[in-house]
Amino acid sequence: MTKPRTQRKPISVLDLGFEDATRLKGLASRYPRKQFMGIEWEKRKGLVTRRHNLKLVYGDVLSKLRRLPANSVKIVTADFLFSGFKMRGFHVDEETRIGRVFAGRFRKGRIKVAKQVYRVLVPNGRFFVTEWKINSGVIKELLEEAGFNVKERPVPESEIGKDGKTLFLKGLPEFFEKHPEAIETDTPMRLIATKPREKAY
Ligand SMILES: C[S@@+](CC[C@H](N)C(=O)[O-])C[C@H]1O[C@@H](n2cnc3c(N)ncnc32)[C@H](O)[C@@H]1O
Repeated sequence: MTKPRTQRKPISVLDLGFEDATRLKGLASRYPRKQFMGIEWEKRKGLVTRRHNLKLVYGDVLSKLRRLPANSVKIVTADFLFSGFKMRGFHVDEETRIGRVFAGRFRKGRIKVAKQVYRVLVPNGRFFVTEWKINSGVIKELLEEAGFNVKERPVPESEIGKDGKTLFLKGLPEFFEKHPEAIETDTPMRLIATKPREKAY
């Protein structure tokens, strides 16, 4: 018999837009007693989606988040999910004319995701978002609108260009070598969004 969701172990880390799941796989091997989960739109051939403590789910983050119970996740991570955000599988480049037409709808979609993350997190749970510097101000506002307290700082250098990190962080030194002008706009920033504890009256 499957256990009702409420009796299941809380998820320690939920990664949104896990791509090749490098980080999640590393964490799941390192912490075998903790539970990990990832949600990603694009299917990858050959990726093992179930281990005893890791579940990788394919589909839209918003609809998958809606199926999770409230207060059931300790940490949510999203590296470049919001800049690579897709709605019904489509990504809109907001620099283009068509992109500007849809920008409002995409903003609402991103806020809905942030609100769902807020709901599934336990009180004092954290949402760690990595975003390019050029986008980070807008994403910070969006997270605050969803109810989070947000701090912003550069991603530590120890996380950049290393194996075991997400594809984008791993490939960054090579990218900056080819496009040094991008350092100004594409320096990765970490937004640390905390769900406040409920106030005791
Ligand atoms: C820019 S990539 C970053 C991937 C990875 N986190 C990294 O840092 O290397 C963004 C990822 O989020 C996924 N994604 C974007 N919108 C999504 C959505 N609505 N639902 C599920 N996955 C989504 C994309 O398919 C893509 O793999």
